[in-house]
Order: sequence, then structure tokens, then C-alpha cells
Amino acid sequence: TRLLGVMGHPVAHSKSPLMHNRALESQKLPYTYLAFDVRPEELPQAVNGMRALGARGWNVTIPHKVAIMALLDEVNDEARRIGAVNTVVNDGGKLIGMNTDGAGYLRSLEVETGLRLEEQRVLILGAGGAARGVAYALAQSGVQSVVIANRTVAKAEQLRSLLQHLTDVKAVPLAEIEKWIDDRTLIVNTTSVGMHPHVEETPIPGELLPEGAIVSDLIYNPMKTTLLRQAEGRGCVIHNGFGMFVHQGALAYEQWTGVQPPLDVMRQAVST
Ligand code: ATR
Repeated sequence: TRLLGVMGHPVAHSKSPLMHNRALESQKLPYTYLAFDVRPEELPQAVNGMRALGARGWNVTIPHKVAIMALLDEVNDEARRIGAVNTVVNDGGKLIGMNTDGAGYLRSLEVETGLRLEEQRVLILGAGGAARGVAYALAQSGVQSVVIANRTVAKAEQLRSLLQHLTDVKAVPLAEIEKWIDDRTLIVNTTSVGMHPHVEETPIPGELLPEGAIVSDLIYNPMKTTLLRQAEGRGCVIHNGFGMFVHQGALAYEQWTGVQPPLDVMRQAVST
């Protein structure tokens, strides 16, 4: 059996081992997926350990997604542009860094809302680590335009410069959101506002959400944030971060095993 896993700190709460092991068992594939709690100062030793053990690959989560890039043999184009790795593949001794967060998000959004990407005028709330992969994937997907709104405008500007060769993109202050929101058809919250335990908070006032828009929130604890509840009340289509978690994992699984992932098994494993 070959080793797979996830490196994070903390990592005990991660649902990835359960999701991957159930999927591997259902397909009778000879891998075991473990959670590794790796302190930041020990990341280089941990990576070498995985190399020495001949692991087939692993996921990378907070706080290692950026730092691990310097420790790998290769980082693919998309992960390099996003500036973060969430998946490592050991290709015959060569450690390759990838990022499946953006593609996983897009798949989940398409499967669950049935939207047409080429018709969307996108508003992204936030410009932190979680925004980068999602914004990159959306900008590349053929949407009409992207507006990035962030509390700290300089970070929105930085993200804009990453995307400007891909689509029509603007960076604006979150405080001026009411000037930019009315014509948006897809609104994506990538900020941490509304996450457990601060479940009553919203990144923007719900009454600003355009009726009938698609409103997506990367948060999945709680499954329905206050923002999504308010969106529902305004007749919006809503989408949460649960599917993104499943699909980013499924894309990594496919890289490691070369097998089509059993999505229903994976979804089922983490939905209880
Ligand atoms: P992550 O990797 O989860 O995206 P991050 O890089 O710290 O975490 O980014 C958090 C995002 O949430 C940022 O866009 C942050 O805005 P700033 O760049 O201005 O800090 C946003 N955010 C966090 N708390 C917020 C709040 N109370 N109001 C508005 N935005 C907030």
C-alpha cells in the first residue's frame, strides 16, 4: 500500500482522511491517507520524510500552502500564478505542486447551480488566500467580467493584476460595494465573515444582493451562512463551499490514483 495524506497545522479536524479512505476502500485501491500535523518550522523535514517514504502524494492545507512551494521539485503554472499549492504528486521521485481549489470550486458551482459561465458578471468579496484560486479559475472560465471588492483595496489591486490578462477586471473598496453590485449576476464570498462561531455576521448587507443573482459562499461551516439565508429570501440561487471541498479532493485523488473518483461516496463520507 502507498501513502497519501494531508499536511496542516492544526489538522485533527480535517475531514479529508475520512473522505479519501472511504473512496479508496470503495474502489479497492492500495493507498492509505493519513493526517500529518506539521509545525511550520518542521515543514522541510516533513517533505523529505514523505519523499523518503515514497508517498504517492498529499494535500497541503493551512498554514503550509505557500511555504511548501519552495520545497518541491516543480510547481505547475496555475499553482505558481495563484501562489499556493494544495496538492503534491510524487511522479517517480519528482515532487510536483498543483492547486485543485479553483478547478474544484468551478466544478462544484457548475454542477450545483447549472449556471452558464459566459453569461456571468462576477463580484468577488475578499482578496485573501481563498480568493486567489477561485478568482483565477473564474477569470479563466469565460465570464464577462470580474469585480473584486476587498476591505483592504491594495490586496484587491494585487489580485486584479494577476487576472488582468484573462478578463475584464476591476478592484474596488468593500466600503463602496453599493456602487458596483447592481449589475452583478454571480456574487462569491471568499472572506471569512460569517464562519463559525461568528455565524450572524455578513460581509455585506443582505439587502444589497440583486434579486435573482447566484450567491456563492466558500464557507461550509455553517452550511448556510447568514449571507446565503438572506440571499435565499431575495430569490437568489445559493451555493456553499461544501462541493468545493469534495471536488478539490476528487481532483487530487484522480491525480494520485489515475482513477475516476467516486463522487457520491466522497460526498456521503463527509456529509454526516
Ligand atoms: P483566507 O486564506 O481564508 O482567504 P486571508 O488571506 O486572511 O484568509 O483573507 C481573509 C479575507 O477576508 C480578506 O479578504 C480579508 O480582508 P482584508 O484583506 O481587508 O483583511 C477578509 N476579511 C476578514 N475579516 C473581514 C471583515 N471583518 N470585514 C471584511 N473583510 C474581512
